[in-house]
Amino acid sequence: MRDLTLLHPEGTISMRICHIALQGCLRLANVSYGITADTGGHIKYLLELVRASAADPDVTHIDIVTRGFENEKLGEAYAPDAGEVSGKLRLVRLQDGEAAYLPKEQLWQQHEALCDAFLAFLGSCGELPDLIHAHYADGGILARAAKERFGIPYIFTGHSLGAVKRQASQGVGDEEIERRIAIEERVLEAADAVIASSRDEAEAQYSHYEGIDSGRIRVIPPGCVLDRFEDATPSDTVRGELQRFLSEPEKPILLAIARPVRKKNLMALLEAYAGNARLRKQANLVIVAGCRGLLGDLEQECREVIEELIAAIDRHDLYGRVAYPKSHAPGDIPAYYALARETGGVFVNPALNEPFGLTLLEAAASGLPVVATDSGGPNDIIERCGNGLLVCPTDRAGIAAACLDILSDEDKWTRYSKAGSTAVREYDWQAHCDIYHRLIREITFPQIAPSAHNRLLVCDIDNTLLGDRAALREFLSWQQDHRQNVVLGIATGRSFHSAQAILAAENVPTPDVIISSVGSCVHWYDRDRRRFVEDAAWSNSLLRNWDPDAVADLAVALGLEPQGFLEQKPGKASFFVGKADVNTLAEDLRRNGFAGETVISHGRYVDLLARGSGKGAAVKYVAQILGLEPNQVVVAGDSGNDIAMLRACQHPIIVGNASDGIRDHPALAHAYTARATHAAGILEGVQHFRKAGLW
Ligand code: GLC
Ligand code: MG
Repeated sequence: MRDLTLLHPEGTISMRICHIALQGCLRLANVSYGITADTGGHIKYLLELVRASAADPDVTHIDIVTRGFENEKLGEAYAPDAGEVSGKLRLVRLQDGEAAYLPKEQLWQQHEALCDAFLAFLGSCGELPDLIHAHYADGGILARAAKERFGIPYIFTGHSLGAVKRQASQGVGDEEIERRIAIEERVLEAADAVIASSRDEAEAQYSHYEGIDSGRIRVIPPGCVLDRFEDATPSDTVRGELQRFLSEPEKPILLAIARPVRKKNLMALLEAYAGNARLRKQANLVIVAGCRGLLGDLEQECREVIEELIAAIDRHDLYGRVAYPKSHAPGDIPAYYALARETGGVFVNPALNEPFGLTLLEAAASGLPVVATDSGGPNDIIERCGNGLLVCPTDRAGIAAACLDILSDEDKWTRYSKAGSTAVREYDWQAHCDIYHRLIREITFPQIAPSAHNRLLVCDIDNTLLGDRAALREFLSWQQDHRQNVVLGIATGRSFHSAQAILAAENVPTPDVIISSVGSCVHWYDRDRRRFVEDAAWSNSLLRNWDPDAVADLAVALGLEPQGFLEQKPGKASFFVGKADVNTLAEDLRRNGFAGETVISHGRYVDLLARGSGKGAAVKYVAQILGLEPNQVVVAGDSGNDIAMLRACQHPIIVGNASDGIRDHPALAHAYTARATHAAGILEGVQHFRKAGLW
């Protein structure tokens, strides 16, 4: 536990951080990306992170620990004695008794020696780091050893996961993948927190591991340096290149930029285009799929993908409409986006799974609307940037329809273009570090828990707590003054990680309890262990009478359309209204044997929940666990999925900007309807109940 004397004069805490990243050829500057297969994205991530991290005056020192090796071809820069220092940053190369460069697949052989070297290094440090941040599983093994020896907490970032690889190879893992997964399990088991870049990583990818529970995973989107895209203009080179392919080059461009590998699913886009006459008439298709000299020189998979694309262009006779440039310089890429924007086009990423989705941010920065796969990181990007539409990557007609939808609606196109170029600025390393450093403080510093709580305040997130930043600041200052007595709860339709990520991004202090997925999930913040813990008793109690397949079949039969895969949770099946009749829906479901809860919000979302679930039931459960009486609970909400909660509580607040007709809802006559909107409405309601002596 940290000593309070380490407080800075301003009352903040100084931090010494030690990163471990063992792979590839790491240096503090002038990294030769691609020099080995392992000198890639994670190094860029790490260096951009530490640079922004070092800019925070609270961070006093950062060590980066990597593996030293000697290799004539790679040069002398990586030898064990070739440490580097730059300002607060120090790069240390461990000597593990093996002089050769080792690719990541072989690092496990050195675990023992690397642990010894790392512990010896820490022992010689004088001052131990407050926190270790390990990158990739091998780094995690060293962090775990340091935690066992010195009690230093650690954060883990996976960057890429064995379980995802295993899944891509259809579930059959070879020895190497299985070993890697076992190492990851060990690292996850003892990690104090795990940083994921997207909700898909947090909720889908990590669900394959037993060593990690949802409460320790945090979604913090990485920063992205996008200046090159923000002010790009179309270039003559790129125009000239496309003129070689297109007979009417001024038409809107559907642009795809991706490596020619199967999982990028470029063929689905081509077939979507070929199969829709209106789309073919309205737009050209431009596929920028890497660079090639002779096809025969490409790796087999890339060659096959290109050959299949060319064969399909020929089969559908798409000459004059589809461009597939043979090569480009790195500087041409921003110009492709800019040209697509100039023509009023759309960027399309149809990948079968996209772990993060950097190209979507590039498109957003370029002001180009997107159509993207609903599998992986794009969910978060489109939720945050509001710059386009998600599609199921195997639904070719759906891909074409989404493209046409944007191309044919000028207002929509402009809205997506503007929203994207504004919101993309939030993908910033400084913003990342604000959240990251708060997480580190949370892990390394004792927490103040509500010590004498006698009241509970539960707020919905979207359009209630969030939506007006000035009001939020005011609310939070009230909340800080009352945190000894008032337990702060959140109740949201969002998933747990989505809720946590948006609260962190908006600088809301860690709440005491999060009710997520419209009441189907409850997480408590354990201030002693500094982590969220899922309330398994609650979720398990709901699942007894829940048959997700039967629910989905019935819903689809009634005309509902499923929401994306990440919105489907145990005890929660979520849909868009689609062709269903909202007025009779609940009754239609009941008549067909559905015994759970039906929740309709914003005239658009339909959540089907296990019987006994919902925000209302969850708030009652939470109050009961806290030992509070109904009159000690205040709740605040704005829309359809808050009705059950507002109805179930004695002291409900409806904020001024409420929708779904809840102000006039017959069951909510007892609610306080605030004049003020968003968080200011919560405060107004709180003050009302306080003044009336009711709370
Ligand atoms: C959030 C959830 C969605 C749900 C909606 C209404 O947007 O992500 O699944 O349908 O809230 O509750
Ligand atoms: Mg809301």
